[in-house]
Amino acid sequence: MDKPAVLGGKPTFKSLLPITKPTLPKLDSLSNRYTEILSSGMITNSKYVKQFEEELQNYIKVKHALAISSCTSGLMLIIKSLKLKGEIILPSFTFSASGHALIWNNIKPKFVDIDEKTYNIDPKKVNEAIGPKTSAILGVHIFGNPCDIKALDDIARDHKIKLIFDAAHALGSEYKNKRIGRFGHAESFSCSPTKLMVTGEGGIVTSNIDELKRRIMIGRNYGDDGSYDCEFAGLNARMSELHAILGLESLNMLEKNLKNRRKFAEMYIEKLKKLPGIKFQKINSSCRTTFKDFSIYIDSKKFGLNRDELSKALAKENIMSRKYFYPPLHKQKAYSRFLKEYKNKLPVTNNISKNVLSLPLYSHMEIKDVNKVCDAIKRINGYSGFVRKKLK
Ligand SMILES: Cc1ncc(COP(=O)(O)O)c(C=O)c1O
Repeated sequence: MDKPAVLGGKPTFKSLLPITKPTLPKLDSLSNRYTEILSSGMITNSKYVKQFEEELQNYIKVKHALAISSCTSGLMLIIKSLKLKGEIILPSFTFSASGHALIWNNIKPKFVDIDEKTYNIDPKKVNEAIGPKTSAILGVHIFGNPCDIKALDDIARDHKIKLIFDAAHALGSEYKNKRIGRFGHAESFSCSPTKLMVTGEGGIVTSNIDELKRRIMIGRNYGDDGSYDCEFAGLNARMSELHAILGLESLNMLEKNLKNRRKFAEMYIEKLKKLPGIKFQKINSSCRTTFKDFSIYIDSKKFGLNRDELSKALAKENIMSRKYFYPPLHKQKAYSRFLKEYKNKLPVTNNISKNVLSLPLYSHMEIKDVNKVCDAIKRINGYSGFVRKKLK
């Protein structure tokens, strides 16, 4: 076996293999519509945003899909529109924006632990955490893996609180053969460049509730229904026509992108499963994930290196990796005022967050890239004792 690059072997890739890249449509497929919109001057609030919303409604089979400037602004507006107060229960193992949307609405985050296999919020812990101030549960479909929606829905109904989802990773995911976007009171998706369907920057809010749709529509327009007499303090969170045109073409590519990702994720699993100390996120058989990220869990005792050491050794092979999500929210500076509350709590979150590593995955990567990443991990594992000494 060749030595890994960290021990003086040749790096696996000549130039850096990125963690992800957006899979974009050809300019030719967009240029007529861009020319039309630019020459008409109607670069916002016009027909392509509407068409994008209609096509998303059909794809997801949801009553309302609203194009928005980002998933973050979508979450902020959902919370505002539902008039939520007090506390919202959410996982700490998530991207910062899930929590920021609460803070901007003056709501206290109540972090609960995740399931150690699926990495999603644990319904049992949610149930235990509900108190008199709880107004909602915010589930996050981590890496596209759908939450235990039925259990969360039952809890929300029992306690007469709202259920919302951060679906940033989950456009195209399915729960019991239904697309994510149809569940809870509302869901918010991201269309930023690291996602499977991109608009540049952007997001989508989905809901089956008419009144919520009305308030989100007003909310993305400063809280103004057009009368200039604002109903509440909203945002400018509209999507431009240029973004929607890109979104329409990107939506056409989504199923193919999903298929490719699944193929690459299955290859990763097949090739890495025999290595000691590597585990994968569990996807329940009733669910389809997007594999927005492909993450491995490293048991350092069995693998011979810890997550950070493996990440460094991969960097020497010109392979990028990412520690999604580390640190978890309750350990981030922005949430330091809550840190005491979580001392010796959230053990699963702390463990997963410390030991998972996302590997390169994008919809148009090549099979040879997956092979090279796996070979590099095998080489590093084979020399793990020496690599560890070298990295010290
Ligand atoms: C779980 C999660 N929620 C929210 C966001 C924020 O999305 P956006 O950048 O569209 O606001 C992200 C971004 O990647 C995310 O991973």
